[in-house]
This record gives sequence, C-alpha cells and structure tokens, in this order.
Amino acid sequence: MAQPPPDVEGDDCLPAYRHLFCPDLLRDKVAFITGGGSGIGFRIAEIFMRHGCHTVIASRSLPRVLTAEAAGLLSASLPGFQAARKLAGATSRRCLPLSMDVRAPPAIMAAVDQALKEFGRIDILINCAAGNFLCPAGALSFNAFKTVMDIDTSGTFNVSRVLYEKFFRDHGGVIVNITATLGNRGQALQVHAGSAKAAVDAMTRHLAVEWGPQNIRVNSLAPGPISGTEGLRRLGGPQASLSTKVTASPLQRLGNKTEIAHSVLYLASPLASYVTGAVLVADGGAWLTFPNDVKGLADFASFSAKL
Ligand code: HXC
Ligand code: NAP
Repeated sequence: MAQPPPDVEGDDCLPAYRHLFCPDLLRDKVAFITGGGSGIGFRIAEIFMRHGCHTVIASRSLPRVLTAEAAGLLSASLPGFQAARKLAGATSRRCLPLSMDVRAPPAIMAAVDQALKEFGRIDILINCAAGNFLCPAGALSFNAFKTVMDIDTSGTFNVSRVLYEKFFRDHGGVIVNITATLGNRGQALQVHAGSAKAAVDAMTRHLAVEWGPQNIRVNSLAPGPISGTEGLRRLGGPQASLSTKVTASPLQRLGNKTEIAHSVLYLASPLASYVTGAVLVADGGAWLTFPNDVKGLADFASFSAKL
C-alpha cells in the first residue's frame, strides 16, 4: 500500500485523522520537539499528541512562558502560542511552547528545566530544528557554513546532551534526529546542510553505542522532499509544492508531513523497542534516483559572498 494519508499545506492541524497505530501508543508520555512550531516538527507534535503524548515545542521564535496562566494571557498574537493553541485544541493534550536557540546551551538548560517543572518528565526528544538555503560551496562564506553546522549538528548535540544530563541518564529515553539524504550522494548547492546532517547520522550511531546501557535509544529519520514545508520552498522554490508529482523518484510524488510524522512515531514508540543506531530513510526512494542538479550551479555563477 503506497497511498499517502491526507495532509494540509500550512502549519495547521489536520481537519480529520484516522489512526493507523493504536491511539494510546504514547499515552501520557512527554516529547520535547525542537523546531516543533512549524513544518515537519509541527506535524510530529500533532501526531504524537493524537497518540496521547504531551509536547514541548521549542524554537527561537516561540515565547518563553513563566506560568501556565501566562500562556493564557499572552496567547492571542504570538506565533508560538498560536501553534501550541492549535495543537492543544485539536488533540486535547497539553503543549508548552518555549523559546530557545539550539546554539545556546544556557537557554537549552533553562528550557529543559521549565519543561521538567511543567510535566515532571521527558520521555522523547525530537531534534528537528535546522537551517538551510541553496548556495554553491565556492560562494559560501565561512560564517554561512558554520551557521548551518552550528544549528543542525552542534544544536542536535547540545539539546541531546542537556536532556541526557537532566533526565535521560537516570530514566532512559528515546531520541530521534531528523536528518536528510543530501550527503549520501553529495547534492549540488548543499555542502553545508549535507555535511551537517551526515555528521548527525554519525552522532546517532555514537550516542546509540554510548547511551544504550542507560536504556536510551537513538535513531535518525531522513525525510525526502516534503510538501508544505519551508525546506521544500527554500530548495525547490515557491512553486515546489504546487504539484506533488515527482516523476524522477520511484514513488513519483512528494512526501507529506503526516507520513514523516508516522515514521518518527514508529521510531519513538515501543514498536521500535529493539531499534537503535539506525537511519530510517522516508523519501519514496528519492535519493536513489533523484537528478543531482549540477547545471543549477550555473545559475549561481555570478553570486559570491565575503569570506
Ligand atoms: C548564502 C547565506 C544565505 C543564503 C544566510 N547566509 N542565508 N549565504 N546564501 N541564502 C549566510 C549569511 O550571509 C551569514 O554569513 C550566515 O549565513 C549567517 O546568516 P544569519 O542570517 O546571520 O543567520 P541566522 O540568523 O542564524 O539564520 C540562520 C539561517 C536562516 C539558516 C541563515 O535561514 C534560518 O534561520 N533558517 C531556519 C529555517 C530554515 O532554514 N528552514 C528550512 C530547513 S529545511 P556572513 O558571512 O554574511 O556573516 C532543511 C532541508 C534539508 O534543512 C533537506 C531538504 C531535502
Ligand atoms: P522549518 O519549518 O523551517 O523547520 C525548522 C525549524 O527549526 C523551525 O521551526 C525553526 O523555528 C527551527 N529553528 C531553526 N533554527 C533554530 C535555532 N537556531 N534554534 C532553535 N530552533 C531553530 O522546516 P522543515 O522543512 O519543516 O524542516 C524540518 C526538519 O526536516 C529539518 O531538520 C530539516 O532539515 C528536515 N528536512 C526537511 C525536508 C523537507 O523537504 N522539508 C527534507 C529533509 C529534511 P524558529 O525559526 O522559530 O527558530
């Protein structure tokens, strides 16, 4: 069966949802999701919550909240509260939006403390925060390369390390790192993101080895091109989601956010209790056959950046 589940373009909850997994799969678990206020991370939060989980969504633009009451008072206009309110409204589970830059360990520690104060536990960490843009290596500034490495790779380590210290070491846990297949073949215009995500896949294996004895499972989920996301808009242009047909890929279509959330749900759940150190590719086979656009480099020929 290869029919995709329904999805919606924007950062909105699904109008209807048919459970494929048991609805209680994550009952009363708590998931900490970086980048959970938008795109794939938002849908992961929603699908987890539809399976009984409470969530913390953490990114730069989400407001820090001091008390649950404050969330109610401030919710009207701020995007983080809007995302959390949509998620809680659609699922009747709790969602705490927190402001945090994955490059700033003190901010991560404060956010994790806040989450533990609110929920008393964290069972699952989803490292979904990332930054990306198209740029040829020859025009990429030192700081541009470093910025993407800092967000994607160091950010994943920083948040994992804090969660380990503050909860997982003593209680066990599950980590799913959202990566990509860009580095598998060396995608044009993507040396920064491809290198950063490949390093995260290596980190997945290292942490799985070191933290397995503490009952911590660590896996990667590598999506292909996914409709209704900032990632696709940045890499494929504003028109990219208009048609979901992709003839160059084995399943001949884009994926959707719900499909990615289902794969992440599997890895985070007890269904994957013996799975650790793995990279699950959910891309319709795209990386095997997708054209590598070396011609696209020419469009960037006149572009240069300061070093
Ligand atoms: C070249 C660029 C650039 C671009 C920024 N830079 N955008 N270089 N082309 N389009 C350079 C800047 O000039 C600067 O270098 C350095 O990068 C840092 O830029 P800042 O704007 O100061 O960084 P920051 O504010 O930290 O923002 C990070 C960001 C931004 C990555 C640049 O775009 C961001 O916040 N993105 C988050 C959302 C996002 O990217 N979502 C998509 C994820 S999709 P100099 O030298 O000038 O100082 C994804 C898909 C993967 O990851 C796989 C898909 C198949
Ligand atoms: P997105 O909506 O832009 O998601 C990225 C998230 O990361 C945003 O919520 C952003 O929120 C957060 N973020 C960025 N920098 C951060 C920082 N320094 N600290 C904390 N949070 C930060 O894009 P998406 O396309 O859904 O991508 C989600 C994940 O899937 C990423 O890991 C991406 O690499 C991966 N992926 C996507 C595709 C695709 O086709 N879309 C394909 C392969 C892999 P703030 O701006 O509020 O910080």
